Amino acid sequence: MTVDLSARDVDVAELMDDPDCDPVLLAATLRRFDTINRMWSGWARLYEARLAPFLASLERPARVLDLGSGGGDLVARLARLAARDGLDVRWVGADPDERALHVARERASSRIEFRAMDASALRWAGERFDAVLSNHVLHHLSAADVAVFAADSLALSDGIALHSDIRRSRPAYALYAIGVTPFAPGTFLRTDGLRSIRRSYRAGELAETLGRPWTVRDAAPFRVVAEARADA
Ligand SMILES: C[S@@+](CC[C@H](N)C(=O)[O-])C[C@H]1O[C@@H](n2cnc3c(N)ncnc32)[C@H](O)[C@@H]1O
Repeated sequence: MTVDLSARDVDVAELMDDPDCDPVLLAATLRRFDTINRMWSGWARLYEARLAPFLASLERPARVLDLGSGGGDLVARLARLAARDGLDVRWVGADPDERALHVARERASSRIEFRAMDASALRWAGERFDAVLSNHVLHHLSAADVAVFAADSLALSDGIALHSDIRRSRPAYALYAIGVTPFAPGTFLRTDGLRSIRRSYRAGELAETLGRPWTVRDAAPFRVVAEARADA
């Protein structure tokens, strides 16, 4: 069966977003995001090109927030890269889903803490960070919610906000369907990854939804990146 990718399929729900989904499969999925994110998310490049130069330019200790931190692998990986580069950074991963927090807290350290809060709750609590980022969150949200999420992320930042997600495309769908096979058993990775791609944005769609001051661009491999500066 050919999947129609001409428009976002917001009616298809991911298994992990079901509050009653199998907790064992969910925990295994969250733990294996580490592998999938290394292969697909492009954050090593984004760190080198955008985040690290920005943090270095501050010339002081920095605070960075990962919104929708899931299993916490990305914030842990970025923390290792920053430490390697001699950057003094405190990291916060925030996610309203306690099931994700349970896995993420295995990755907590003296420099990394996790909070059970969503973007709006952090904003209205008056939290501030030098950089706010997210990975694979935008496609979970409706067009109305994605605009609120982006606005909250920018309000939480004194510097940059940087959101990366999968881009909807036929090559991404076909390659993921094959590439995920060895990692999928015992997890939701295959079903949810393919559903994610069906739900995901193309750059033009996201740019139209977010409006100014956001710039949205395609990035490799099969990524869309939205970026804004708090002082723009
Ligand atoms: C697919 S997971 C991505 C997890 C992780 N960032 C990764 O790349 O593996 C999306 C996460 O976003 C979280 N989320 C959804 N809406 C959010 C919001 N408004 N603020 C913070 N997190 C949110 C969900 O609870 C979920 O854990």
